[in-house]
Amino acid sequence: MPFTIIRNDITKVKADAIVNAANSSLLGGGGVDGAIHNAAGPGLLEECKTLGGCKVGEAKLTKGYKLNCKYIIHTVGPAWQGGNRNEEELLRSCYRNALALAKEKGCESAAFPLISSGIYGYPKDKALDAAVSEFRNFLADNDMDIILVIFDKDSFEVSSAIMGGIRQYISDAYARNAAKRDKRNRREPLMGAAMSEAAKPVSLFGRKKHTSLNSAPAVLSEVSEEACFEASVPDLEGLLKAQDESFSEALLRLIDEKGMTDVETYKKANIDRKLFSKIRSDKNYKPKKQTAVAFAIALELDLNETEALLEKAGFALSGSLRFDLIIRYFIEHGNYNIYEINEALFAFDQSLIGS
Ligand code: AR6
Repeated sequence: MPFTIIRNDITKVKADAIVNAANSSLLGGGGVDGAIHNAAGPGLLEECKTLGGCKVGEAKLTKGYKLNCKYIIHTVGPAWQGGNRNEEELLRSCYRNALALAKEKGCESAAFPLISSGIYGYPKDKALDAAVSEFRNFLADNDMDIILVIFDKDSFEVSSAIMGGIRQYISDAYARNAAKRDKRNRREPLMGAAMSEAAKPVSLFGRKKHTSLNSAPAVLSEVSEEACFEASVPDLEGLLKAQDESFSEALLRLIDEKGMTDVETYKKANIDRKLFSKIRSDKNYKPKKQTAVAFAIALELDLNETEALLEKAGFALSGSLRFDLIIRYFIEHGNYNIYEINEALFAFDQSLIGS
């Protein structure tokens, strides 16, 4: 997945490059810096001593030593001083410089901690915004797997407006479901008793003329069976054709209809280029639900269109599962930013979308 967020100790992660949130001396410290030096072993400090330090916002590279990576990229985030000391630009430049070094060395994957958000006191939600926005800019023009590694859940803060909106949406949905269940429970015993033979519905083609089953409009009840059957033939063909269309065929059709390019689509869907080519060339490709949903988001489909695309892969969006409700929330609010969606999914401990 081009961009993913995981919860882990970064020293346990496997990636071509592991990024360290260091200080200007590059001689080690606390937090993630201390953990990386401990895990990498003394060779790391020896190499760091030869680098002559590093300015805030810049990045330098060493070997990986005992870590599960080819390189460690050391960058120095700004200490938070209220926000008016160029902190945001300096923090963004840490990500840009670290990514540029990783790219220069041909890394296919890079793991980052949330730079400056610990000892340096940068507000966590702002630190996350800066990081994700730089990842997004980079991935628009480059292919790499970027892993944002969150050590403890407390250091992950999504904008409170989005979180508040989703919480409300989920609790409204639960309340609606409970009310529906209640209503059903109250109705079912009565319905069972009242359902006599005479009141049971008859098969649609069981009589010469359609009789309305209670309150259907009179005009419908008078339509002859023949007319009804004839009128439905072209629709039936259309329906059968649509049913024959595979997920991959539907996806490619929608990309054309939306006037998007393949690259735009898989980038917006947080889908790996190789996986996209596979889906493109295999008519019967069966995606995971997270992949299918990611394409619906990239194509900015509304809820009905999303349901129709998911159905092609044998999935649906329920009105009760958390993952499904979060996706519904974003679609209903016309927010198709897959990075924001994934931040929210991570915050609610759900699988991220893309592949
Ligand atoms: N894996 C992933 N993330 C971690 C880990 C870990 N093992 N340990 C901490 N974090 P910090 P800074 C998270 O304080 O704010 C050092 O002394 C942590 O939860 O490590 O940039 C340096 O030498 C937080 O979200 O770095 C500097 O002097 C994030 O990593 C100074 O701290 C960054 O926290 C740098 O401060």
